[in-house]
Amino acid sequence: MAGIHYSAASGTFKPRSPALLFLFAFLALTLLFYIFSISSSSPHSTGLLISSRNPSSDIDYSFVASLEKFLTKSPRSETAGEDTFSGTTSVEDARKLDDSIWKNENQRLYDDAFYPAFSPLKVYVYEMPSKFTYDLLWLFHNSYKETSNLTSNGSPVHRLIEQHSIDYWLWADLIAPEPERLLKNVIRVHKQEEADLFYIPFFTTICFFLIEKQQCKALYREALKWVMDQPAWNRSEGRDHILPVHHPWSFKSVRKFMKKAIWLLPDMDSTGNWYKPGQVYLEKDLILPYVANVDLCDAKCLSASKRTTLLFFRGRLKRNAGGKIRAKLVELLRGADGVSIEEGTAGEGGKAAAQGGMRKSIFCLNPAGDTPSSARLFDAIVSGCIPVIVSDELELPFEGILDYRKIALFVSSSDALQPGWLLSFLESVGAAQIKEMQANLAKYARHFLYSHPAQPLGPEDLVWRMMAGKLVNIKLHTRRSQRVVKGSRSVCTCECRRPNVTSSGPLS
Ligand SMILES: *[C@@H]1O[C@H](CO)[C@@H](O)[C@H](O)[C@H]1NC(C)=O
Ligand SMILES: *[C@@H]1O[C@H](CO)[C@@H](O)[C@H](O)[C@H]1NC(C)=O
Ligand SMILES: *[C@@H]1O[C@H](CO)[C@@H](O)[C@H](O)[C@H]1NC(C)=O
Repeated sequence: MAGIHYSAASGTFKPRSPALLFLFAFLALTLLFYIFSISSSSPHSTGLLISSRNPSSDIDYSFVASLEKFLTKSPRSETAGEDTFSGTTSVEDARKLDDSIWKNENQRLYDDAFYPAFSPLKVYVYEMPSKFTYDLLWLFHNSYKETSNLTSNGSPVHRLIEQHSIDYWLWADLIAPEPERLLKNVIRVHKQEEADLFYIPFFTTICFFLIEKQQCKALYREALKWVMDQPAWNRSEGRDHILPVHHPWSFKSVRKFMKKAIWLLPDMDSTGNWYKPGQVYLEKDLILPYVANVDLCDAKCLSASKRTTLLFFRGRLKRNAGGKIRAKLVELLRGADGVSIEEGTAGEGGKAAAQGGMRKSIFCLNPAGDTPSSARLFDAIVSGCIPVIVSDELELPFEGILDYRKIALFVSSSDALQPGWLLSFLESVGAAQIKEMQANLAKYARHFLYSHPAQPLGPEDLVWRMMAGKLVNIKLHTRRSQRVVKGSRSVCTCECRRPNVTSSGPLS
């Protein structure tokens, strides 16, 4: 170390010449470089260097493909974080949590000029026992082949599970390691007192379809108890808890105990067939698109597709409830010029046929299914086929953000059922309008493609944008409910039912 004079008095190194300074810096840099290259080549690298990711090839859009990677490759985060509150419940715990939340919210209010708007949502994801989470995903994964012929009400159950797999896509994004996540509007917090919202990761749809009925109901009850034992649930009566129940039959037996939570639903079904009046309403719940059954028709596919069919429909021709209109419509349209109507289900062969048909058609018919909405609508959107929605009461996903009048035609069932009306209506739509709607569809398709990693502007992203819009209202109701003094009149009687929707004419 000759040439370097160490001054004990000042405690610093003082190189005597610029050349030596250069040499010293060079050595230091080499050492740093060496350390970095070791750490990035080691399999246990802690992500000091963010891995360079090919932006498109790493995105999975298929539930089966993504789940395979999720279960077998991704390191599973077992750590519960520094979870200050869990497992026990008492009014005292709930009060303590409430105090901590109050402190945090105060801080954010005074520190952040925009709080609560424009700040990322903070979500606490419950670490539920694996029987509610991983075990169910494994069950789906392991039984995928053997149960390929298993059907429910005529549809293959695995396709039904895929179609409702929003619970997987949202959860997989929330629990992914932070450096791999692309969504900026939601972050996972590991302390309950920092949370705006609580996410319940329970795969209710898989349970419903793949577990024996009584056993599944028992699991529902266990999940219910587990959640209700949480102080955070006790504090808000579940108002700030997110419950994915996207299949209308799933979790049915115990839903009524969680009716104040934020439900993630396929639609509102105001007919009362699936949801009891007073359990679901727009102010509280959120509608999420079905996971599309067909592949995206991308820019290349769109420019190549020759749309020679005027109107296409493929599906089962007899359905319950509001779906009765299907049979009548089909009767009216069958055999007409430019109309293609096929009987079929959503199985593997069905997927290819539906995809081919939609890509060859200008308009895709979307009559009400069992519920007012159906996966077919989203299949049409990602196929570039303009949906013709025949339904008198239909709430669509992300309606506060997306304008469906620009991509779909809305027709009342009374109009559609007049002989000849629908076809002459479609024939009267001008070429310019068709072109414009097709261009809008191409632009909108990304909002309906669930993926991992979840993409900005994808459905997961829009879920959190919608949720942010609800946040102030959720907090308001949580606080009001706590203000009720035992024996006094409730100050929180407003359950804000959705307005009574009566049949309306075409919206466009
Ligand atoms: C499913 O059905 C097809 C045709 O009926 C049959 O060939 C196949 O073996 C069945 N698969 C299973 C796993 O039962
Ligand atoms: C909160 O906990 C108390 C005491 O265990 C219980 O009586 C009450 O029903 C709980 N409230 C909710 C909403 O779970
Ligand atoms: C909705 O309003 C109409 C007309 O005001 C009424 O006839 C109908 O009974 C109402 N439906 C419900 C479910 O309240």
